[in-house]
Amino acid sequence: MLKGKEIVVGITGGIAAYKAAYIVSRLKKEQARVTVVMTRMAQEFVTPLTFQSLTANMVITDLVMTPKQWEIEHIALAKKADIVLIAPATANFIDKCAAGIADDFLSTLVLATKAPILVCPAMNKNMYENQLVQENIQKLAKRKMTIIEPETGRLACGDEGAGRLAGEEKILDAIRSILIPHADFQDKTILITAGPTQEPLDAIRFISNRSSGKMGYALAREAALRGAEVILVTGPTTLIPPKEATVIHVQTALEMYEQVLAHYQEADIVIAASAVGDFRPRNLVPGKIKKKNQLNLALIVNPDILQELGKRKKKQLLVGFAAESSNLEINARKKMKAKSLDLIIANKIEDGFSKNTNKVILLWGKNGRKALPVLPKEKVAKEILDKISAYRIEIKR
Ligand SMILES: Cc1cc2nc3c(=O)[nH]c(=O)nc-3n(C[C@H](O)[C@H](O)[C@H](O)COP(=O)(O)O)c2cc1C
Repeated sequence: MLKGKEIVVGITGGIAAYKAAYIVSRLKKEQARVTVVMTRMAQEFVTPLTFQSLTANMVITDLVMTPKQWEIEHIALAKKADIVLIAPATANFIDKCAAGIADDFLSTLVLATKAPILVCPAMNKNMYENQLVQENIQKLAKRKMTIIEPETGRLACGDEGAGRLAGEEKILDAIRSILIPHADFQDKTILITAGPTQEPLDAIRFISNRSSGKMGYALAREAALRGAEVILVTGPTTLIPPKEATVIHVQTALEMYEQVLAHYQEADIVIAASAVGDFRPRNLVPGKIKKKNQLNLALIVNPDILQELGKRKKKQLLVGFAAESSNLEINARKKMKAKSLDLIIANKIEDGFSKNTNKVILLWGKNGRKALPVLPKEKVAKEILDKISAYRIEIKR
């Protein structure tokens, strides 16, 4: 997929420098053209020879180059690059970049390039949490660099916490999503739920809600366009599903529950955009309830699909919606936590329900937040998938 792409891999002097060898090897397997640039300190951890062998290309180790290296001087490489990946990025390198310092080949190239830059911090947890480092990471993010956040786990120094270099797959996915924006969900299965449910009272009546299904269908269309295998589990709507999607029609919340769980294992990503009925009549009356009969409408609670998905979550990225009438963000964050969601899309009921447009706030992690203006649901779908794509994803099928 990355065939012919010019990728500069910048390696800085952290303990995770050896992991760059796996990343470079994967890039080469996808037939990318890789140029490795190492800081002086990086060369203390891994030898340039490793990367020279993996890339069959000269490794850049110094700003002042020998005559043989003129053809890859920093400005030329900065212009040629389709993307610059810094993995691992030390605290020192991040701080330097944030200050605009250009005192070696890699930091000079970062200033000189117009290509997208991906920065993958990796360091001791205390260094990562240091306010200065955090502020500098934010600075880089504001300058349109993509930060691939480190993972939490056991660090080389023995500490537990955030600071491990992001997984290879996540980094590769991020590169693909930037360089091949229209195929960023290739090889991914996305299970999407859409529409309302209907809970029958008798042979002709039901309890339902005003969901139109437009948001879920827009997501299904956008995901299919971007190369995903889409499974759309839909309640009753009048909409036409994308022809590439596998469509499963359901009526009740229980049917939706069963179908979603039946396909959960296949899914890499689940986006629950349906408005599932919380209650259903305790008894389904056969035939038609007569007007003259007294209607005794006893309701029971339906199973909570998202809650169940959250409990059974393994590799999946879980995305939910919160349509709220009050305390929008507080309630949405509560829901995200209670159901182990990775991302939640919050909107006021009056802004989106059964409309063609929506005004949403994307919330993720501890503080992640992106508020969007009123947009057509197709555009909202694109924004949501862009966010998921950027967020991604250690999912391997
Ligand atoms: C054994 C050892 C391991 C280190 N690991 C890291 C690390 O994982 N992350 C980090 O930010 N700095 C780490 N450092 C510190 C950097 O090497 C140091 O800040 C250096 O100046 C970075 O230079 P560079 O950013 O130009 O590559 C480590 C240093 C040593 C000696």
